[in-house]
Amino acid sequence: MRSNNLFRNRRDFLRTSAVTLAAGALPSSLFPSKENPANTYFAPPTKPHRIILDTDPGVDDAIAIFLALRSPELHVEAVTPVCGNVPLSLTLPNALRLVEIAGRADIPVAAGAATPLVRRLVTAKYAHGSNGLGGVDFAEPKLKPVPETATELIRRIVRANPGEISIVAVGPLTNVATVLKSDPTIAPLIKSIVIMGGSLSGGNITPAAEFNFYVDPEAARIVFDSGIPLTMVGLDVTRKVLIRDEQVRALEAAQNPVSQAAGKILRANFDRLHKTSNAVDFAMHDPLTVAQLIEPSVVTLKDFFVEIETTGELTAGQSLGYAHGPVRRSPPLETGQPAAESPEPEFKPNAKVAVEVDPDKFFRLLLARLASPA
Ligand code: BDR
Ligand code: CA
Repeated sequence: MRSNNLFRNRRDFLRTSAVTLAAGALPSSLFPSKENPANTYFAPPTKPHRIILDTDPGVDDAIAIFLALRSPELHVEAVTPVCGNVPLSLTLPNALRLVEIAGRADIPVAAGAATPLVRRLVTAKYAHGSNGLGGVDFAEPKLKPVPETATELIRRIVRANPGEISIVAVGPLTNVATVLKSDPTIAPLIKSIVIMGGSLSGGNITPAAEFNFYVDPEAARIVFDSGIPLTMVGLDVTRKVLIRDEQVRALEAAQNPVSQAAGKILRANFDRLHKTSNAVDFAMHDPLTVAQLIEPSVVTLKDFFVEIETTGELTAGQSLGYAHGPVRRSPPLETGQPAAESPEPEFKPNAKVAVEVDPDKFFRLLLARLASPA
């Protein structure tokens, strides 16, 4: 089923958004008006981006899934959970229940990798709660995963639609790397990969590495070496979009199943984190990654050549971004190969990296999309 049935046309969408406005949840400056007809926040493009959402839900993943499913600019072809924030035994049912809550049982959900390519799984239950959704006890999903694996499903969709499909990957890159490894001629058929991961300004799980790349550095390396057009939305920008109490209250006040579920998850996670760390905000890493596909002006992108560290004892998963050449490596060991046999890598940008963000614009978009009536 290809049509996004949430918003049948632009007028419908504007009408439903205006109800939210009447409820006082959002400022009128968000909407196109006689005075500001150029405000295109809610104007869906004529042709939606066709995406596969690869994710490890995860509190911010949940919000990202909701944002994608309620945005007419995106057509979500599949959701492919991977292990990460919590094990696959939780990310899979979480993905199913989130898709179900959004009323999108038409979207195939396929089980992805249960372990990183070569490492033991390290989870982030400390940040997302023991079940990945802040500890909120949702009902068992009725929706079932499709019989194909995530790898099989991604390959089939991409091969049937060459050059049309972008992968939006907001968890460890294991599923995506497995697709590239298992189908070595598929890379040119993938339109682009939009990644939440990495950082050019220090990590969040080690001083060097961002969580998604830390969990599966080998997978991240395969993706960055693939030659596929990449967009990297890393901690440089995502740690600047911090959701706070007033925004959670706006979600709780809106009366639709998605805003209610989002409000519950965020509230429970806030309460949990507050007890352990006094945190009063939580970064919306994954929703920002989805948002920049809907509204590119929420971030500023810059060309970089990005490489992923895989061998460091303390730094595996670190992303290093070169803004220009020369691209230098650590000096060879005395006992290693002579330098002449390992030439300097070429400087050739392989990723557009988000370097600036407009947090207010992002939150206006996020709240408008999640809080509008279904
Ligand atoms: C990333 O790690 C996960 O915990 C979040 O869901 C996000 O994808 C941020 O480092
Ligand atoms: Ca994630």
